[in-house]
Amino acid sequence: MQRRRCASATCPRRKVCEMKHTNTYKVFFDEATGHDETGDGSEARPYATAVGAMLARGSDVMLMARKAGEDGAPGEYEPLSASGVKKAKKLFEMAQKKKQKAAEQGAADQERAAAEQRRLEEAKSVVLEPPADAPEAKRIKIRDGVQSRDTRVKVCGWVHRLRSQKDRMFVVLRDGTGYLQCVLQGKLTHTYEALTLTLESSIEGYGVIQALPEGKTAPDNHELVADYWVCIGKAPGGEEAITNRISENSDPSILADNRHLVLRGETASAVLRVRAAVMSAFREEFEAGGVLEVTPPCMVQTQVEGGATLFQFDYYGQPAFLTQSSQLYLETCLPALGDVYCVQESFRAEKSHTRRHLSEYTHLEAELAFVTFDDLLSHIEQDICGMVDRVLQNDKVRQLIEQLNPGFQPPKRPFMRLSYKDAIAYLNEHNILNEHGEPHKIGDDIAEAAERKMTDQLAVPILLHSFPREIKAFYMKRVPGDEAFTESVDLLMPGVGEIVGGSMRMTGNEELLEAYKHEGIDPQPYYWYTDQRKYGTCEHGGYGLGVERLLAWLTNRWTVRECSLYPRWTGRCTP
Ligand code: 4AD
Repeated sequence: MQRRRCASATCPRRKVCEMKHTNTYKVFFDEATGHDETGDGSEARPYATAVGAMLARGSDVMLMARKAGEDGAPGEYEPLSASGVKKAKKLFEMAQKKKQKAAEQGAADQERAAAEQRRLEEAKSVVLEPPADAPEAKRIKIRDGVQSRDTRVKVCGWVHRLRSQKDRMFVVLRDGTGYLQCVLQGKLTHTYEALTLTLESSIEGYGVIQALPEGKTAPDNHELVADYWVCIGKAPGGEEAITNRISENSDPSILADNRHLVLRGETASAVLRVRAAVMSAFREEFEAGGVLEVTPPCMVQTQVEGGATLFQFDYYGQPAFLTQSSQLYLETCLPALGDVYCVQESFRAEKSHTRRHLSEYTHLEAELAFVTFDDLLSHIEQDICGMVDRVLQNDKVRQLIEQLNPGFQPPKRPFMRLSYKDAIAYLNEHNILNEHGEPHKIGDDIAEAAERKMTDQLAVPILLHSFPREIKAFYMKRVPGDEAFTESVDLLMPGVGEIVGGSMRMTGNEELLEAYKHEGIDPQPYYWYTDQRKYGTCEHGGYGLGVERLLAWLTNRWTVRECSLYPRWTGRCTP
């Protein structure tokens, strides 16, 4: 049989097509029952659309369309109307153009990828050597950059920022002591390592630190003009790149899972730097005041702040707890060492998901002998203000605080002193209701929300004092003449609320025994604490400060979780 040649110029199967494609060659489509991918244009297997039919069979065909009849069953095939054909041709041409453009783009992409691959392969043969005539480089930390200008140095660090121009790369290095811009030029940018350098890679840079000309900016107003560099540990790019693991807008749980990477960022690391400065300023302040640092145990068999928040564990077959507060131990130190303080982790099995509760927090506690309640309040004020003055004296720390908490002003002394009874009156006068939506009454524990509202309205630090006995811990001294109340204090800060809790302690043996009884506590395990009253009692008091809460106030963080290295809260004990 003689083979008939297809007459259609646009038939995609033209070379093998045995149909004589003219516009009398019928191709069937049916929007209801057809399919553009699996149809073949026959009556039995129609395409779904006119343009689908044209894309498969060319535009030079007679399109046969079928619509559903009135009863919903498929009707008869009829030639597509002239306007339908015109519309389909237009769509067909557009689709053809798009296809062609995609094919061209694909080819260009392939060409580019191949060129890039060739460039990378060639780069593997570029080997850097330290310049033969260069003087030996002195290893420095970035913080020593300014005094090390104009001599050859070696700096090690992590790639914090990266910008490439033709034949030039700007790498901002980070080593924990600062940031340094390194400029790589010419051959230094031609190596495989340079072409594939990624953020967070660790590198060594060699060269001379030069002051920047007017109008250019970089950290410390200088840059390392490198003559040699080495990549020590390449960080992944692509899918695994750090920017794909975390970003400013990542979900909080992703940021928590990747806390180890978050810490490398400028904000998280600035908070930790301020934290370190705060801790050392507190230590200086205590040292200046003759208060001695001690280190009480974390594993204990007594409670301080109520059984509800104790973490219990098995201690060689006996029940024991992670400490809630080192206060009781500090009290026992007074006759031995005089005034003492400690910086210790405290643990609270708090089921609260608030932004100021952690399950483990750093507790700075102090205990002072032979003081009055008024002395204690003044001491708290002095410790906070003295610490703030000290950190602000350090230019670098002051800049970090300004970066985190722009416009921060040290608190004014004296702090406002507000009795619990006056606070209840304030809340009611200002229509701040309790947790049940009712006005506050004497005896109520002031809940976090109400406390925060009052503190934010007053907008100054408040020494809120003299709480009712029933809502405070068993060891607190009663107010002489008003025994239902205690010589107790919370320091409230705007934006955070309570950051310090303290009190005068009971001095009498009998009243302490009565307090254990009232609280349902077995006095036996507390024999060493009770002895304190037996062997030379004295008026004494102290306080505990939540370091993360203080930092949340000082650095204006939304939550204490941002102020801990690896925060622990309900359900979160990792990384
Ligand atoms: O008010 P608290 O429970 O007082 C005591 O533990 C006393 N024994 C301290 C003492 O007098 N030596 O806790 C003191 C401070 C609070 O003001 C708060 O700043 C912090 O510890 N704190 C917490 N911080 C974060 N997460 C928690 N779950 C905290 N619980 C208390």
